[in-house]
Amino acid sequence: MNGRLITMEGLDGSGKATQTKLLCEALSQRGVMLRRISFPDYAEPSSTLAKMYLDGAFGTDPNAVNAYAASSFYAVDRYASYVRHWRQDYLNGSLIVADRYTTSNIVFQLSKLPKAQWESFIDWVQDYEYGKLGIPRPDLTVYLDMPPEVSQKLMEARYNGDENKKDIHESNVAYLRECRESAAYAAERLNWKVIHCAEGENPKTVENIHAEIIKKIAEEMPFYVSI
Ligand SMILES: Nc1ncnc2c1ncn2[C@@H]1O[C@H](COP(=O)(O)OP(=O)(O)OP(=O)(O)O)[C@@H](O)[C@H]1O
Ligand SMILES: [Mg+2]
Repeated sequence: MNGRLITMEGLDGSGKATQTKLLCEALSQRGVMLRRISFPDYAEPSSTLAKMYLDGAFGTDPNAVNAYAASSFYAVDRYASYVRHWRQDYLNGSLIVADRYTTSNIVFQLSKLPKAQWESFIDWVQDYEYGKLGIPRPDLTVYLDMPPEVSQKLMEARYNGDENKKDIHESNVAYLRECRESAAYAAERLNWKVIHCAEGENPKTVENIHAEIIKKIAEEMPFYVSI
């Protein structure tokens, strides 16, 4: 029996890595056979074009690379990772927990297009990656909704205030705000489970967010977690 795939989505600095790690630890403790993956797969050469794009090799405005081109950079990286690293585990029944996935193309590229084209872009992304490339469709997507104003503060702490360390998405708050809007649209349309990660100007605690995620998993996938 195929395994299952949970994807953790959110804007830059919203806590995906932090929460993916905690979720995997909690599920492992419950005896769930799982594998944690993350995208872009920076350790592999397949992430080269995504890296070039984020480093500004095609222009420092995210809009310099159209939604379909940028999506292709990320999609081939996922294909390579699937085939080389986690297909076997997935086919053998493991749970795969991904920090970003195809869902990131929807969050970050949709905002480059006029709203009238959002529907057809989402259809294209899903048909391309799940249909044509043949990588698995997520069983559950958890969307960490954190206002960019709040995540910017978290990232500043991470980069010790060095603006130069930010990539072309991270340093563009206006772009991230637009992405938050397109993500809200996608969450509704694709039934993502939204976790509100901030109260006013402050992030909720890591532990509280984790507890909310566990609650969602228990609701949606009771065979992994019962609370
Ligand atoms: N709820 C929280 N409260 C305070 N700090 C947090 C919280 N969640 C994450 N952080 C911190 O904020 C920073 C960003 O978190 P993390 O790296 O998990 O986010 P990310 O979504 O994976 O980021 P990126 O999009 O850049 O990969 C880290 O330094 C992390 O320790
Ligand atoms: Mg991360």
